[in-house]
Amino acid sequence: MKRRSGFVVMARLVGLVKPLTGFMILAIAMGLAGHLCAAFITILGGVAVLDVLGMDVPLSMGAVFACVLGFAVLRAVLRYAEQACNHFIAFKLLALIRDKVFFALRGLCPAKLEGRDKGDLISVITSDIELLEVFYAHTISPVAIATLFTVIMCAFIGSFHPALGMLALLSYVTVGVVEPLITSKVNGADGMKFRTRSGELSGFVLDSLRGLSETIQYGRGEDRLAKMNAKTDELAKDEKRLKRTSGYNMAATNTVILFFDFAMLFASAMLYQSGSVEFAGVLIPTIALFSSFGSVIALANLGSTLANTFAAGNRVLDILEETPMVEEITDGVNVEFDGARAEHVVFSYPGGQGLSAGAGDMGEKILDDVNVTFEPNRIMGIVGKSGSGKSTLLKLLMRFWKADGGNICISNENIERVNTVNLRDMESFVTQETHLFHDSIRNNLKIAKLDATDEEVEAACKKASVHDFILKLPQGYDTPVGELGDTLSGGERQRIGLARAFLHDAPFLLLDEPTSNLDSLNEAVILKSLREERKDKTVVLVSHRESTMRIADMVYSVENGRVS
Ligand SMILES: Nc1ncnc2c1ncn2[C@@H]1O[C@H](COP(=O)(O)OP(=O)(O)OP(=O)(O)O)[C@@H](O)[C@H]1O
Ligand SMILES: [Mg+2]
Repeated sequence: MKRRSGFVVMARLVGLVKPLTGFMILAIAMGLAGHLCAAFITILGGVAVLDVLGMDVPLSMGAVFACVLGFAVLRAVLRYAEQACNHFIAFKLLALIRDKVFFALRGLCPAKLEGRDKGDLISVITSDIELLEVFYAHTISPVAIATLFTVIMCAFIGSFHPALGMLALLSYVTVGVVEPLITSKVNGADGMKFRTRSGELSGFVLDSLRGLSETIQYGRGEDRLAKMNAKTDELAKDEKRLKRTSGYNMAATNTVILFFDFAMLFASAMLYQSGSVEFAGVLIPTIALFSSFGSVIALANLGSTLANTFAAGNRVLDILEETPMVEEITDGVNVEFDGARAEHVVFSYPGGQGLSAGAGDMGEKILDDVNVTFEPNRIMGIVGKSGSGKSTLLKLLMRFWKADGGNICISNENIERVNTVNLRDMESFVTQETHLFHDSIRNNLKIAKLDATDEEVEAACKKASVHDFILKLPQGYDTPVGELGDTLSGGERQRIGLARAFLHDAPFLLLDEPTSNLDSLNEAVILKSLREERKDKTVVLVSHRESTMRIADMVYSVENGRVS
């Protein structure tokens, strides 16, 4: 994972605001006006005191009271409007970022995600993006407001005496910038660690849920629980540390503010003694500084949360900026399917898995100078030991991964030049594991062809020998898969996967162990369907079963990365 500086993260995140610039400016203007109202309520109090003391002031007592009242009401209204505006921006942006993240994930699929910890991804998608709300609603505008506010207040205080203006500037900058910078330096790593740990914990919980039956069977319950407790404890410790430092920060800020208030009083009193300012020049600047730290404190308080936000931003940006292993092709050519072949294909999975793996670090060669031809309207078998690279070859034909050397061609066109949508339309891939979504059986089938009619769905299911089974379910095709949970057997899932492929009706059918979980009766139905499909389709059939292989017109054998 890249560790960007807070500044870079901030710049990238601000860059995303562009479509909402107008609202952002509105929020900042209202926030600034609100803070000025608050400061001037106290300052007007000072004016009133001067008036009582019989000094020359430009406002009458009545006007002062009217102003104070007006400012107080305005302050409340502006504060509310600013917050409403900020949250509007934040939630609009979160929706936008979610969209971008899903888009990025789609691009990274499946190569870069195959090795990724799914729990970690889930925590990026859910809690990290959620955390950015803090950034958009409570970070950007406070920074802008504090800057503008500081300029205005320094000018105001400086109008009594330039030295006092400089002192005010120094106090604002110390409280609003220097201190938060120091704290974010100190806590930066803590925030990151906390996010990573909490991602790990969700990954662990997810993993435990998935492996429930293994855990029970091998009596590892206590073990898992102990590990989970240890992880939770560590996370709690991290959180406590973050909370404690935020407490320290608060205390430090208050001390610094007090120090500068005294410094202002002292400096203005000195100037008064030397005759450089009048009494008003002591009272008003001191009161003004005293009552105007609100906006910079808001900035300083960001220090501790900012570390967290940046860590979250970092993780989101990691996904947004990750370059896919295989880019989607949209400016290529569209072809009609007319056979496929692999020429001198060399392939190895990257040494380290997942997002952090660079393209450079290669692992062991899985395929080494592979040459195969898949002629139209034939069933080509592929056999080979487990782990020899049969599924890998299919994934390369799908362009899920890119070959390191050699060419993969479809209809005499290198697949690197074929539009991805066109390629996916031409190919149906039945993997060794069929995933069913939490939806009805019908919708689970229709992902292969969204506009399929009921007749088409049923025809595909008959070919896959699963129609009768589905009819026996409580609500037939409309039975929700979620309710069935894991009760569908391996063979039932497999046949649903096959039905999807038949429904997709692509000319190039890649079947990875389509019959491994089936009894010979179901196998026979499916083989019969395949034999019929052969008329206008090309089938690549990977199987360990001899009975299945018998229908192949030709069989390739994968061994030690070679195909013969
Ligand atoms: N995403 C991946 N990253 C790294 N290595 C992988 C990845 N997927 C598969 N492999 C490795 O590549 C090798 C070939 O895997 P592949 O799935 O192609 O084998 P297979 O011939 O289909 O085996 P089986 O008959 O058991 O399905 C295996 O050693 C496997 O561990
Ligand atoms: Mg396989």
